Amino acid sequence: MKYNFDEIIERRGTDSVKWDGVKKLWGRDDLLPMWVADMDFRTPPFVIEALQKRLDHGVLGYTFACEEWYTSICSWLHRRHQWEVSREMLTFVPGIVRGLAYALQCFTMPADKVMVMTPVYHPFFLVSQHLGREVAYSPLELHEGQYQIDFKRFEKDVQGCKVLILCNPHNPGGRVWTADELRQVAAICKESHTLVFSDEIHADLTLPPYKHHPFASVSIDAAQNSLTFMAPSKAFNMPGLGSSYAITLNENIRNRFNSFMEAGEFNEGHLFAYTATAAAYTYGEEWLGQMLDYLQGNIDFTERFLAANIPPVKMIRPQASFLIFLDCRELHLTQNELNDLFVDKAHLALNTGTTFGAPGEGFMRLNIACPRTVLEQALKQLCNAIMH
Ligand SMILES: Cc1ncc(COP(=O)(O)O)c(C=O)c1O
Repeated sequence: MKYNFDEIIERRGTDSVKWDGVKKLWGRDDLLPMWVADMDFRTPPFVIEALQKRLDHGVLGYTFACEEWYTSICSWLHRRHQWEVSREMLTFVPGIVRGLAYALQCFTMPADKVMVMTPVYHPFFLVSQHLGREVAYSPLELHEGQYQIDFKRFEKDVQGCKVLILCNPHNPGGRVWTADELRQVAAICKESHTLVFSDEIHADLTLPPYKHHPFASVSIDAAQNSLTFMAPSKAFNMPGLGSSYAITLNENIRNRFNSFMEAGEFNEGHLFAYTATAAAYTYGEEWLGQMLDYLQGNIDFTERFLAANIPPVKMIRPQASFLIFLDCRELHLTQNELNDLFVDKAHLALNTGTTFGAPGEGFMRLNIACPRTVLEQALKQLCNAIMH
C-alpha cells in the first residue's frame, strides 16, 4: 500500500468535534471517540498540496469556482458512477445539511410534511422540525440483518408529503439501495407529488461488490422529480471545508433552486472548497481504492471480533461507508442503560441509536474509520465491559 492508514494522528487540541467535542458532550475526557462521521486518517496528500499551493500565492481574494471544479465533478461522476452530468446542472452548496435546509425553504412552506425513513441521519428530521415543517416518520424494516423498504407502508406514509429526504446510501444502516428499489421510490413519489431530495454524501464510499446508483439516474420519474446532494467530504476526509454541491436534472426545479440560492448568495463557494474538490476528484482514485480496502479490513475485523468475543452484539454489515450500526438488543437493556454501559464501563463515545429515530432503540453507531489498532482497543474495551 502506498498510503498509510495505520498512522495514529493526534487530533486532540484541533477543535475536532469528534475528539475535543467529547468533553463538551459527555463532560469527561476519558472516552475513546468512535462517533462523529469523519475519519482519523490523514486527508490525502494531493488535497493538502493543492491547498498549500493556493495558500503560497498569498492573496485570498474573492474567487469564483475554477474551471476544474466543474470538469472534475462531471468527470468523476462519469468515471465513478457512470452518470452523465453537465456543468449547468451543478450548484455549489456549503455543506449537505445546509443544502437540504436551503432546498426545504425553497420548495416547502411551514407546516408542509417532510418524510424521512428511520432510523436515519438525524439532521434530516431535526432541520425539518426547526424550520417548522411537519415530519412524517416512515420506519424501515430490518430483515435478515439488513434494512429494507416496506413499500406498502412507504406508499401509505408518503401521501401528503411535499418532500422525501432519501439517504442513498443509507446512514446509519449502511444499505446501498438497488436500482430497482430506487425506481419504486421514484414511481411512488411521482404519484404522490412528493419531491425527492437524495443525500448521496456516502456514495463514493460504496464497498465492492455493491454499486451506488444515483437516484436521479434510475428512471425518468427520478430524474425529473429530484435534487441530488453530493460531496467529496466523506470519502476524502475534508468535511471541515464545507464543500458540497447539488445536481438538478429538471430545468424548472433547478431554476427555482438556483434563484433561491443566488438571492441569498448561498451558492457562493469559498476558494478552499473549490480547490480541494478539484484535487480530490482529479487525483483521488488510487487513494480512495486503498482507503476502501482498509475500511473493508476494519469491517471484517469488527465482524470477526464480535462473533468470537461479544456474541450478543450483532452488527449490520455496511454495504457502504464506515459506520456500523450495532444491534445490542440481545443485552436486554434500556437505551439509558446501554448508554451507561458504553460510557461508564467501556469508556467509549458512540452515537446512541435513538438519535436516529425511535427504531434505533437498542442500537449504537460505531465509526470504524480509524487505525486498526485503535479499533481493536475500542472493541476490547467493549468486550471487557459486556463479557467480564
Ligand atoms: C447522510 C449524511 N448527510 C450529511 C452529512 C453531513 O454533511 P455536511 O457536513 O456536508 O452537512 C452526514 C454526516 O455524517 C451524513 O451522514
